[in-house]
Amino acid sequence: MATIIERYERKFPGSRRAYESAAGLIPGGGHQSRVVKPFPIFARDGSGGTKRDVDGNEIIDYMMGFGALMLGHAHPDVTRAVADRLAEGTHLGTTSELEIEWARLVQDLIPSAERVRFTASGTESTLLAIRLARGFTGRKKLVKFREHFHGWHDYVSMDSGINTQVGIPEETMSTVIVIEPDLDALGGLLERDDDVAAVIMEPTGGHWGQFPLANPGFLEGVRELTAKRGVVMIMDEVICGFRMSRGGAQGRFGIMPDLTTMAKIVAGGLPGGAVAGRADILEQLGDAGTSRLAHPGTFNANLVSATAGIATLRKIASEPLNDRADAMASRLKSGLRDALNRMEVPGQVHGLASVVHVALGVDAEDEEISTVPHDELAQATAGSRAARIKLAMLNEGVDMMGGIGFMTSAVHTEDEIDRTSEAFERALAALREEGDL
Ligand SMILES: Cc1ncc(COP(=O)(O)O)c(C=O)c1O
Repeated sequence: MATIIERYERKFPGSRRAYESAAGLIPGGGHQSRVVKPFPIFARDGSGGTKRDVDGNEIIDYMMGFGALMLGHAHPDVTRAVADRLAEGTHLGTTSELEIEWARLVQDLIPSAERVRFTASGTESTLLAIRLARGFTGRKKLVKFREHFHGWHDYVSMDSGINTQVGIPEETMSTVIVIEPDLDALGGLLERDDDVAAVIMEPTGGHWGQFPLANPGFLEGVRELTAKRGVVMIMDEVICGFRMSRGGAQGRFGIMPDLTTMAKIVAGGLPGGAVAGRADILEQLGDAGTSRLAHPGTFNANLVSATAGIATLRKIASEPLNDRADAMASRLKSGLRDALNRMEVPGQVHGLASVVHVALGVDAEDEEISTVPHDELAQATAGSRAARIKLAMLNEGVDMMGGIGFMTSAVHTEDEIDRTSEAFERALAALREEGDL
């Protein structure tokens, strides 16, 4: 029987050729989180819950634009609105009514959003939020939790899954304190150090809940400790926003941060992001004459992203999209569970809302919020096995997130979900064949 790699090479020859043609042109052959070994697939188009690669293979997609696509690929409502906008001009060099409508939708959906400011990405959103917090408090330090990911700028790259800090000055890193997600550790730190401007966190835990927090208690604890010390609580809802509920994680758990960072779904699958939160903190941005803090940016609140964001958020506000995406995730979780049982492979299936994680090899009952220790969860995705299951799933026509994760959308069908569970069972069999399980 052919090995996983042999089947992969046979199924995706066009992708291999494309990858080879990137050599000497694009460092590493492409985006670091998209390139896998021996070569990544090159996709060409997508529709709903599926996409097609350059060889014409149809692939059920759970990357969903790294979480940006609550409406799947090329949703007609978004596509039409964006196409109309393109014909009317992409950048008129002025502010626009679209920005106001977009901000209003964010304000209506995200409970703590007294003010809203648009950026061009999630990385820019966390950078701006940190600057706002430092400006507001007059303090210097940032606290982040181990394994929480907030983009790739200098202040957030430590202990976030980015495995190198080359190019980041020591002086910059000395202003960031990384701690375990532990309330006693945070409490002790804030008591000892009065130079902390902000605590930033992924509200469901590191890597979009791969390492879950004991919620809502943990969020409540961070809220209390930060409020007591005048430290700005930044909830990074780049993935959770409009996904954990239409009001994000804060809507789901009822905890109001001082600042919220967003991207992905907020811009309807186009580049864009936002920082929202307390008026007194955001008003530092002021107008050209009164601002304390600078925040320019050619493509912030650009008309095309605004249009896609508005089309998406309007639907999220008025239709049960989250319920539908969540129902697809529930169906997927039980299908994956059945596959693990049938193959007699230990593993835990966990995740909230439209997020699904599989911790292979972990012997524990399934939970929405996993209580398995984080080092055991880390072990489940360490080494070559998680990389090989990604390839084995692609051989079966399914693309999942690294770390054995899935994000469902409101447009995945039951048939796609059921085919995914069957694919997972065959992928497990392929891994077993190679002695990986
Ligand atoms: C929680 C979180 N914050 C920030 C970011 C960075 O966003 P972007 O990739 O748009 O810069 C990401 C990206 O995956 C994220 O998951």
